[in-house]
Amino acid sequence: MTRDLRMRWLTPALALLLAVGLSACNTFTPNTIFGAHSEFGHSVDVLTRKLLYLGLLVFVLVEALLLFILVKFRDKDGNREAKQIHGNTTLEIGWTLVPAVILAFIAVPTIKTIFETQARAVPNALQVEVIGHQWWWEFRYPQYGVVTANELYLPVGRTANFALTTKDVIHSFWVPQLNGKRDLISNHTNYIWFTPDSAFAWNGFCAEYCGTSHANMRFKVFTVAPAEFEAWAAHQKTNAVGSTPPANAIAADSGKQAGGPVVTAAAPATGTTTPGNAKAPAPPATPVMLVSDTASSTYPRAKLPEWVIPKTPTPAALTFDANVEGDAARGATLFKTAPCIACHTIRGVPTAAGIVGPNLTHVGSRTTIAGGLYPNDLKHLQLWIKNAPAMKPGSLMPLFGKAEKGDTPGVYTDQQIADLAAYLSSLK
Ligand code: CUA
Repeated sequence: MTRDLRMRWLTPALALLLAVGLSACNTFTPNTIFGAHSEFGHSVDVLTRKLLYLGLLVFVLVEALLLFILVKFRDKDGNREAKQIHGNTTLEIGWTLVPAVILAFIAVPTIKTIFETQARAVPNALQVEVIGHQWWWEFRYPQYGVVTANELYLPVGRTANFALTTKDVIHSFWVPQLNGKRDLISNHTNYIWFTPDSAFAWNGFCAEYCGTSHANMRFKVFTVAPAEFEAWAAHQKTNAVGSTPPANAIAADSGKQAGGPVVTAAAPATGTTTPGNAKAPAPPATPVMLVSDTASSTYPRAKLPEWVIPKTPTPAALTFDANVEGDAARGATLFKTAPCIACHTIRGVPTAAGIVGPNLTHVGSRTTIAGGLYPNDLKHLQLWIKNAPAMKPGSLMPLFGKAEKGDTPGVYTDQQIADLAAYLSSLK
């Protein structure tokens, strides 16, 4: 290779190496496993580092020995036969014992960590049932009577014990910064528990290939102060907006706006908005805690880290009439008899009791739709209802767009879809 040719390769290679190196220093990596925020994560982190450093030590020793032997015993005077050591008992015992000792050094901390992380959770843990579906997550809080989807709220400092099962194929529950992975398998409940140590918003994933939209089976975890969690859970337990007498709603609403974060939300904080008036009260200027005191006691959207908001592009061929404006009241009426009710539950709407799809009681309070694939706003919700299979490959939710499916029963015009989307958005 000529000097010129070498330089031609060397410069870009060095530049690339430098770019990769520098970007690693400068980028915030939200999904890293090297930044544990729970005791489970810490145990695994300590083990990983211990094994990494032990492995490094063995590597350095072996390579040093190898280099030493290569140099010292290199053939200096031609083709002599090397000394034959076959059948040397001392050597054979030696190189059997050394790996056994090394394995013992690996086994002791590993088994210790396995026992730690497989132990039963503390008795007063928050119980969460995690049910995997193709391709979304169902979360149930049996102690609170709350059922939700794709977004977990967890109190900081309280152990959360997850009971993992699946409705269909094998999935795997994984929040890189909070815990290790654990599979959701058929006919058996797996458990995993951890205690979040700080308040934040985290990304969660399905970590086991489970079909076409495996990569689109995501969820969010919001770790919040215990009082905020109680407020959130109390609100999630309430009926959907518009399904209870408005007097209740006004009382709860005024109670919630008084003086910052809600601790007393165990009161019947029923629907705080009515269809067609889906505007949530603005959060206070200086929130004491992370969770806003908006109607739904949820993580304030303005404070969501930018990497929590999905940026999935929508299919170019799928369009929606931009001039159409939805009406939540019309949407509420339409929903009661729409095919949606076969698969979705909305607490407080007697006809809507389906359990195949996500519970939509407070769907408007969630930050994402479609298993964390799109942000939860009117535009994405409209496209989703119109043609879910185009938005998410393999989606079990059928398409409802009249323009897409033709004039058959159970399809909707853009106006009707806009009404449905307005209604769903109002379910804070
Ligand atoms: Cu569920 Cu992959």
